[in-house]
Amino acid sequence: MKTALSLVVAALFTISGFGLSVSGAADGSGLVLAKCGSCHSMKRICRGLGKKDLAAWEKTNRRMAEMGMTITADELDAISNYLANAKPGAGPVCE
Ligand code: HEC
Repeated sequence: MKTALSLVVAALFTISGFGLSVSGAADGSGLVLAKCGSCHSMKRICRGLGKKDLAAWEKTNRRMAEMGMTITADELDAISNYLANAKPGAGPVCE
């Protein structure tokens, strides 16, 4: 029973996470599409998935922000966390 319940909870999280990414919010992927796509294609970002760790993404993203992104520190954190954990080729950013 406990297992069944946690499966339901996990499924709900997956669904809501997906919904949020489509509408452009919290899991970071929507932010990547909205914020990082204004200067270059996602290809440049996708190349780093599975290679850069969190510290490396934070460094890259700080540099991107310095080039003139309008973004809050929280949004930048969400993006770094998303990219550090995303699998190579993972959607919606890299599909
Ligand atoms: C203001 C324009 C701009 C925005 C917005 C921007 N970038 Fe970039 N990005 C660049 C430019 C210009 C380069 C190439 C020059 C360089 O690498 O410094 C680049 C290069 C890169 C590279 C390849 C270089 C490296 O160090 O790996 C990655 C990865 C990258 N950007 C990721 C991102 C991510 C993730 C975001 C969103 C958080 C983002 N960029 C937003 C302008 C931008």
